[in-house]
Amino acid sequence: MKNQLFTEARLGPVLLRNRSIRSAAFEGMCQKNKVSDDLIKYHTAVAAGGIGMTTVAYASISQSGLSFPHQLLITREEIPAMKRLTESIHREGAAAAIQIGHCGLMAKKSISGKCLAPSGRFNLYGPTWPKKISQAEINEIVRDFGSAAKFVSDAGFDAIEVHAGHGYLISQFLSPYTNKRTDQYGGSFENRSRFMVDVVREVLKNVSPAMAVVVKMNLRDGFRGGSEVNEAIQVARLLETEGVHGLVLSGGFVSKAPMYVMRGSMPIKVMAHYIENPLMKIGVRYFGGLLIKPEPFSEAYFLDDALKIRTTVHLPLVFVGGLKSRAIIDDVLDKGFDFVQMARVLIHDPGFINKLRTGEITGSSCKSSNYCIAKMYSGQMACFQHEPNLPEKWRIEFESKPGIGNP
Ligand SMILES: Cc1cc2nc3c(=O)[nH]c(=O)nc-3n(C[C@H](O)[C@H](O)[C@H](O)COP(=O)(O)O)c2cc1C
Repeated sequence: MKNQLFTEARLGPVLLRNRSIRSAAFEGMCQKNKVSDDLIKYHTAVAAGGIGMTTVAYASISQSGLSFPHQLLITREEIPAMKRLTESIHREGAAAAIQIGHCGLMAKKSISGKCLAPSGRFNLYGPTWPKKISQAEINEIVRDFGSAAKFVSDAGFDAIEVHAGHGYLISQFLSPYTNKRTDQYGGSFENRSRFMVDVVREVLKNVSPAMAVVVKMNLRDGFRGGSEVNEAIQVARLLETEGVHGLVLSGGFVSKAPMYVMRGSMPIKVMAHYIENPLMKIGVRYFGGLLIKPEPFSEAYFLDDALKIRTTVHLPLVFVGGLKSRAIIDDVLDKGFDFVQMARVLIHDPGFINKLRTGEITGSSCKSSNYCIAKMYSGQMACFQHEPNLPEKWRIEFESKPGIGNP
């Protein structure tokens, strides 16, 4: 055991005080798509809790990439507010990262104005019927990634995480499931990865040399007909050649295998409860269980596939997925991963890292109930264990059947 968690480490040009990173987990705190005091307060608390770097989640590079009314839209006008956020994180000794992306077929037309995807096929999970993205729209979105990268670089972020996983736009281009194009963006792996390469080049071109650029990518999409780990190996090689500073290794596809990302089961009734749209509410309540299938949870659930990338590339790798205890975190770092990302344990307790450091705890008491995911639709991120008004029947169920058979 090398005890590396609390050693300094370099992610490209950025030196982190330790190897822990708060994974991008949608906070839902950006009402009217702007930085809010709650967002600053939350990330400052995670920074004060000892994290090496905290990542602001799911910020959209353009209006057409939005899927929530309380999601950050990166614009020139938001630079001063984003600066307040990064300065507050820095005052607590942590680095600040931001995940940038475009949701493609998960767009909410009432907010985004349009819904674009590599191919115009119905998406039951939206539900949306996206328009097939044109060459001109591809060019515009690539440019928007570049502008957004410049804005967040100017706002003092230390790192950008380009979201190329989980079935959002870049991932929709990569996946044979959503990409049925016959032009230079479809068909062969080289063609399906073209959009990602264009985006990454544009981002690298637009950021300060002091900024780290990492990419969150899929090891597998998580269903038959999606991308598998053999393609992830090619993606990793390609991104290393393009000069990114690190890769975050994840998996899953929001419109087909959403629980592959987080594992466990989705508390369907809770999710339906928090959805406002009455039709969606009924749809989720009665058919959600058919669409959102449970996936078995175990700590470090991506380890076997992630090791295949570790033996392929040399650049820093960030491990994410089911890290809850010091022993497993140490094991993952010992196996050659450079950083560890965590989401749910930090939603449960922003002070998790300091508590591990001082030895106050050896693991999290997060129950993997996925209540935090179900509540994402309410715009108020929370762990069920800290909800004062949670119905007692839900609390009993979450406590007694962690991660499975949720309401
Ligand atoms: C409430 C919630 C919101 C999430 N939102 C995002 C997101 O916006 N972008 C993303 O890449 N992953 C998102 N994730 C996935 C996490 O970043 C992470 O990959 C996953 O939860 C596994 O890590 P964990 O076991 O430490 O929670 C979210 C997870 C949760 C629990």
